[in-house]
Amino acid sequence: MSLTQQDIDREIAARHAAYEKRLADGAPVEHHPRRDYTPYRSSVLRHPVQPPVAIDSAQDPELVELYSPAFGERDITEIDNDLTRHHRGEPVGERITVSGRLLDRAGRPVRGQLIEIWQANSAGRYAHRREQHDAPLDPNFTGAGRTLTDAEGRYRFTTIQPGPYPWRNHVNAWRPAHIHFSVFGAAFTQRLVTQMYFPNDPLFPYDPILQSVTDDAARQRLIATYDHGLSVPEFSLGYHWDIVLDGPSATWTEEGR
Ligand SMILES: [Fe+2]
Repeated sequence: MSLTQQDIDREIAARHAAYEKRLADGAPVEHHPRRDYTPYRSSVLRHPVQPPVAIDSAQDPELVELYSPAFGERDITEIDNDLTRHHRGEPVGERITVSGRLLDRAGRPVRGQLIEIWQANSAGRYAHRREQHDAPLDPNFTGAGRTLTDAEGRYRFTTIQPGPYPWRNHVNAWRPAHIHFSVFGAAFTQRLVTQMYFPNDPLFPYDPILQSVTDDAARQRLIATYDHGLSVPEFSLGYHWDIVLDGPSATWTEEGR
């Protein structure tokens, strides 16, 4: 029997209720999703089930590559953060400006960080050979960009409002519109990947990926805010979204620069 949205809704509600009960019983806030979040079906098979393996870099000199920056095959150019200018023509869709700051747990800016994004086009289709959604490709939109944070930890992208898209978690499963973000850190082993959402999306309650963040406040932090000051007259609508790092790698990165 095929899995319905109602089935997934029940599982999401049960997971959320269980989390609220853990909180009420004194358990700590969980900022991150559990890796085996069953409403997101493939997470059950994909998540690691063994503890991390410690690697002795002194025994293998090639491991230094894991600790050194790798920014790609060429330097970042001035249009890498403007996804509307990567082709000859203009992409279809609503232009948006997305900007915010990369901050460590103490609110200090994290400077010079490589931030990469990737996203679907305005029709909800990725320019990727394994993409299966039957929506039009846009010959003027690839959907990938990158930039470095400035002295205040600020990043800025010009792009197109991505469309929602279907996926095959269950019947009639749709992802809310989102942009994937990667924060590189000082080396590949520190890379963090997350997703930014847009305010007031009606698909939020139906999406097991967003709902896998069971803490209400933590989930809200994934949603950008409309910022009229970021909107560019006659050009784009502005969204503000800060990324706050946690853990020792953020501080180490900032002090290492
Ligand atoms: Fe996506």
